[in-house]
Amino acid sequence: MQPIISVKNLTKSYKVFKRREGVKGSFLDLFKRDYYFVEAVKNVSFEIEKGETIGYIGTNGAGKSTTIKMLTGILHPTEGEINILGRVPHKERTTHVQNIGVVFGQRTQLWWDIAVVEAFNLLQKIYRVDEKSYKNRIDNFSEILGIGELLNIPVRKLSLGQRMKCDLVASLIHNPKILFLDEPTIGLDVSVKFKLREFLKELNSTEKTTIFLTTHDLVDIEEICKRIIIIDKGHKIYDGTLSEIHKNFGGQRKLVLDFREKPEKNHLLNFVKKFQAKLEDSHTIIFSQNVTSASELISVFLQEFKISDLKLKEMDLTEIVKNIYEKEK
Ligand SMILES: Nc1ncnc2c1ncn2[C@@H]1O[C@H](COP(=O)(O)OP(=O)(O)OP(=O)(O)O)[C@@H](O)[C@H]1O
Ligand SMILES: [Mg+2]
Repeated sequence: MQPIISVKNLTKSYKVFKRREGVKGSFLDLFKRDYYFVEAVKNVSFEIEKGETIGYIGTNGAGKSTTIKMLTGILHPTEGEINILGRVPHKERTTHVQNIGVVFGQRTQLWWDIAVVEAFNLLQKIYRVDEKSYKNRIDNFSEILGIGELLNIPVRKLSLGQRMKCDLVASLIHNPKILFLDEPTIGLDVSVKFKLREFLKELNSTEKTTIFLTTHDLVDIEEICKRIIIIDKGHKIYDGTLSEIHKNFGGQRKLVLDFREKPEKNHLLNFVKKFQAKLEDSHTIIFSQNVTSASELISVFLQEFKISDLKLKEMDLTEIVKNIYEKEK
């Protein structure tokens, strides 16, 4: 199948001007300003097919929003190529936006002073959506997300969660093939998060909308995405399906021990090595299910050390991703 998003060696550097201090400095800055470059995205490549759900994750400042801004045509890449549904986003922005929906959790795309329904109506006109499908979509989405009562309220009066739901509906009025979401669940309570996740899953399965999502909440990823791309300081460091990631990294478990008597470090290390496990800290052992069972490990440790309590933990996605970062370092 032909990919609908193709990104090759994408790079973005921002030119940042240095500011000199004081009045004299500001005056001098008028004539000549020193600058440096911040490399936000470096040589990133990937291809995405129709209907995929991608979690694009990374730490603060990793380059996620910069990537989304380039994919949506807001920013020009410094180097590299982007092709989305046969178009180059920053060159053919007007036609490109017909195919995509965009939601930035940090800031609304709606007009602050007008009622939600008026904003929807405006978008209908901008995207030339026919009356019947417009009405169908608004009715359907409003019902699922429970925003019927909000339609006549000015956007500025909405709570964060209410605004987010309206932003999401707004981004979907023109039935885009791809939906870009930059931290859509930031600051939302658990029930709104739950609703949004269910909504996005449903959208992907019924309309085959491709979803490209950034988030710091890895539960969003577990729930919505089948594939994850991890970036770190602008570089892509992982690209694979969620099931691969669980298979490759998730066969690990943690045994957290409360020692009644602190063991001698080498003594503990010897036992840990025997099971090809490793120490996370002085009382946490990371071991692989393929090498040993939890019961075997626990019984050996109970015999050998003075232990008052213990806890067994499965590695969740947060832990797995943390491990991938650490491995990269
Ligand atoms: N307009 C800009 N001018 C200069 N530097 C910028 C600009 N926008 C972003 N950056 C820098 O580029 C890097 C990547 O920023 P970006 O916003 O893409 O990160 P992010 O992965 O979205 O982070 P977060 O999780 O905090 O949203 C950061 O070092 C940031 O400071
Ligand atoms: Mg960001």
